[in-house]
Amino acid sequence: MSDSAAGQIDHVLDETRLFPPAAEFTEKAVISSQEQYEDLYRRALEDRDGFWKEQALEHLHWFEPFGDVCQWEAPHAKWFVGGKTNASYNCVDRNIDQGRGDKVAIIWEGEPGDTRTLTYNELKVEVCKCAAALKELGIGQGDVVSIYMPMTPELAIAMLACARIGAIHSVIFAGFSAESIADRNQDAEAKLVITSDGLHRRGKVLPLKKTVDEALEKSPSVQTCLVLKRVGNDAPMTEGRDVWWHDVVDKQSGDLPAEPLDSETTLFILYTSGSTGKPKGIRHTTAGYNLWAKRTFDWVFDHRDDDIYWCTADCGWITGHSYIVYGPLTAGATCLMYEGAPNFPAEDRFWELVEKYKVTILYTAPTAIRAFIKWGDEHVEKHDLSSLRLLGSVGEGINPEAWMWYHEKIGGGRCPIVDTWWQTETGGLMMSPLPGITPTKPGSCTRPLPGVSPAIIDESGSAVEGENGGMLCIDQPWPGMLRGVWGDDERFVDTYWATVPGKYLTGDNARRDSDGYYWIMGRIDDVINVSGHRLSTIEVESALVSHDAVAEAAVVGRPDDIKGQAICAFVTVTTADPGDELRQELRQHVRKQIGALAQPDDIRFAASVPKTRSGKIMRRLLRDIAAGREAAGDTSTLEDYSVLAKLREEGS
Ligand code: WTA
Repeated sequence: MSDSAAGQIDHVLDETRLFPPAAEFTEKAVISSQEQYEDLYRRALEDRDGFWKEQALEHLHWFEPFGDVCQWEAPHAKWFVGGKTNASYNCVDRNIDQGRGDKVAIIWEGEPGDTRTLTYNELKVEVCKCAAALKELGIGQGDVVSIYMPMTPELAIAMLACARIGAIHSVIFAGFSAESIADRNQDAEAKLVITSDGLHRRGKVLPLKKTVDEALEKSPSVQTCLVLKRVGNDAPMTEGRDVWWHDVVDKQSGDLPAEPLDSETTLFILYTSGSTGKPKGIRHTTAGYNLWAKRTFDWVFDHRDDDIYWCTADCGWITGHSYIVYGPLTAGATCLMYEGAPNFPAEDRFWELVEKYKVTILYTAPTAIRAFIKWGDEHVEKHDLSSLRLLGSVGEGINPEAWMWYHEKIGGGRCPIVDTWWQTETGGLMMSPLPGITPTKPGSCTRPLPGVSPAIIDESGSAVEGENGGMLCIDQPWPGMLRGVWGDDERFVDTYWATVPGKYLTGDNARRDSDGYYWIMGRIDDVINVSGHRLSTIEVESALVSHDAVAEAAVVGRPDDIKGQAICAFVTVTTADPGDELRQELRQHVRKQIGALAQPDDIRFAASVPKTRSGKIMRRLLRDIAAGREAAGDTSTLEDYSVLAKLREEGS
């Protein structure tokens, strides 16, 4: 268990407050009674095929009907077998077919304050043009397109354009380094990269195209780079490889029919950190993922036609894929999309946006909430937030203090909070309160959604109850589940299905209380959660060790008030008298290898790192030292006690 989780559990174990939804909310809610939930939940598991057949026929467009609803040979699943659909059609055309063509799909605001609005009709034209341009550039079904872009409408348009022609998008968060982009391009054998000249961040311009150019030196499969002009800097363009968006997209026809695609066509891959150094490309397919994103959006965000919905995530993460693009657009929602930082030009930017656009549903992350608390209530109090009716949280457990602040200061005490637990691999929300019916407990993601069958398992493989909890697994297939790890089925099987045979291993620990509510207790593997972003400690260690001066590195998380966890690196070096200069250099080095989000907060130089006799790094011990706690537990297997003593000394 991680230390921040341990700290959090002390709080949540004492947590007995219960917040039932207000009657006015329940009355109009999509799921408005406990019986309705129980009925959906029971049917989804007892009559899986019947239930999901009905859902798929009602909520997706089908060019050709499917046969079997689910073919399940653990761990491989196929859903809606043989059917033909298209996620871009479901997100765009289907809304137009249903009379929502003039409804606003995307309201966008750039960091400098420029704005743009796209109706579903207008979105379709843009998506078709981009799809036609991709075709002209030689992209077809099954080709991988990497997308490394700022949060502009064109990012969502590019994703939907790929989906329209059966190309596979691989979105790379625009904070990753050239090395990380190159790794992903290579692993996926991407044929084309879409990027922009630059990106606005906190008033500065970051030269995205330059970073991409560096990555392309090590991306032999990439033939073309499509570049959006966003900031108007002098981006370097390579003749024969690089083309401007305004040259090739704008001239296309705005009407390109969506390709009927088999249900199991890969829609996208998204790289995420696991226990090992190399990020894995999580593979999601078309029909099941699309349906899961849509239905979980409907149920949990209680979507109504006049809502203005804002998810503050970046499309570079799964939250942006499922709850900025595929879920809400398939549901015909009006989505606000914001390009920049929450504290630019001032710390009230989010609340200014909520007031300006009369946002009704806000979905954000605990790390952001903790930053808002730190910045002070005055930034919130300046604005009228009375349009809000529902709040969501994702990325890590929300500590009860942050929960209460969110509830009172942002929600005015009247908005339910949905604390949504899920993962890149699950495609969409798995456990969450249903805002109309679930009395919430601060810190708990409450109960599973229809179709989700969680099991808490101990090390011997048996189900466990009680406060200590165990490994959280899912023991039935669900439509949005990952279909594999790109190019590495063995890794897919080993990582997720081998520990508890036949059950999906989430990598999280959890416990279930006497009301049947789930409490996530942190990771069981070497994954840390920094500002809601998953990082593998081994990935950061590998980056450090690739520096000439580093002999060995051990990386652990330590509790951090804002980020949840901060990155603490113990490093043994080959040079004499390492100091601040080297520390700074190593931070920069990690930034260059992975990206700014992986930069260690603390770097401690050590003579050696403590290991067990079998050579495993004693992370538990290092976590205690990193957190400034007395090293606890049995240390008799320590290879070298002096190492421990030395580290303690240095920390004091
Ligand atoms: C953690 C983000 C507690 C968890 C959607 C999970 C959470 C990992 C919650 C997935 C939550 C996410 N409560 N923990 N509500 N939401 N997590 O793939 O450890 O970036 O396994 O997906 O974040 O992170 P990922």
